[in-house]
Amino acid sequence: MSVPFYDHAKLYARRKAEIDGAIARVLSSGRLDWGEEVPAFEAEFAAWVGAAHAVTVNSGTAAIKVALMALGVGEGDEVITVSNTDIASSSAIHHVGAKCVWVDVDPLTMTMDVAQAERAITPRTKAILPVDLYGHPADLKAICDLAKARGLVVVEDACLALGAAVDGRRIGTWADVTCFSFAPTKHLGSIGSGGACVTRSQELAERMQMLSGYGQPRAWHRSIGKEGRPLNHLTEGLNERLDELQAAVLRAKLPDLDASLAARRAQAALYAVGFAGSAVTVPGVRPGVDHAWRNYVIRVEGRDRVRERLTAAGIGTSMSYAPPMHLQPVYRGYGMGPGSLPVSEHAGDRLLNLPIGPHLEAGMVEAVVVAVRAAL
Ligand SMILES: Cc1ncc(COP(=O)(O)O)c(C=O)c1O
Repeated sequence: MSVPFYDHAKLYARRKAEIDGAIARVLSSGRLDWGEEVPAFEAEFAAWVGAAHAVTVNSGTAAIKVALMALGVGEGDEVITVSNTDIASSSAIHHVGAKCVWVDVDPLTMTMDVAQAERAITPRTKAILPVDLYGHPADLKAICDLAKARGLVVVEDACLALGAAVDGRRIGTWADVTCFSFAPTKHLGSIGSGGACVTRSQELAERMQMLSGYGQPRAWHRSIGKEGRPLNHLTEGLNERLDELQAAVLRAKLPDLDASLAARRAQAALYAVGFAGSAVTVPGVRPGVDHAWRNYVIRVEGRDRVRERLTAAGIGTSMSYAPPMHLQPVYRGYGMGPGSLPVSEHAGDRLLNLPIGPHLEAGMVEAVVVAVRAAL
């Protein structure tokens, strides 16, 4: 049995009527910009997360950048983050003019080692940017407590963790700003690109709307055409807004999110049972965590050989995320060679991302387990 890593066509076929209807609604409304779909989706998404405010943007990368800008992080500031992640977590820090301070991760969950983060704080530190890797939340309680005690802000990269919770509290309610991605392969996937910043602060939300929307207050911008108002740029903003079509499609897909999270959790449980007693290291989960299972990432010796055999057997895999950022050519200037972050590097050489998600049919997880065991 071949098992695809993703299958967008299958997911579209299941909700074709709703998605087609959402697209047609936007096109026939004539409001392709500054319409009703974006604010409606923001309200529905914030309610789903349990957060006070959601501000949509056009990618997870943009969400992190806009959050950092809104919190005043910029030139000369240091942001403590991790290296074993997508480049967006680091590049957004550079895009606002700040410097990355990468710390290593805890080997059980592959999320930020909080003791190392504490040791990395300097007078220039402005923010901590933990990553909820693969859907497992970082140690948000400890990180938020540390930030509060040291006068820092927390921007959480939750691009992989929509629907995760810590001690029964959904992520999106812990950090100053929590950033989500609606890339097509994420828990809630658009048909292009999208993201959101979630916060409890109305002031921050309005600032993020303004920064992502040309630097004008959103209410002002939405009324320009209607009332002939003059331009009113309070800052030099970006144009990093979610568009009406993506918002409408996300509204059509949001009702499926709970079922798709449940499917991921059931598949992760099947994998854990299937790999018991094998040489595979399965993902660890910290007590109190409700994992969102965006990825099921195992660690195996001889990973490249195992991966080749799985590819030959028709099993889709990926290597999210390796090698870690501090070893990427673009960040050579930091001078952090091999051995700088041993846990991130050790995992980077062994990790293997297996298929998981609502596109999988019955029996597929078991087929992957059989193929992995045979490939070891
Ligand atoms: C951890 C993490 N952060 C940020 C991003 C960036 O999200 P986007 O692709 O929507 O810009 C990704 C994308 O996969 C990610 O995995």
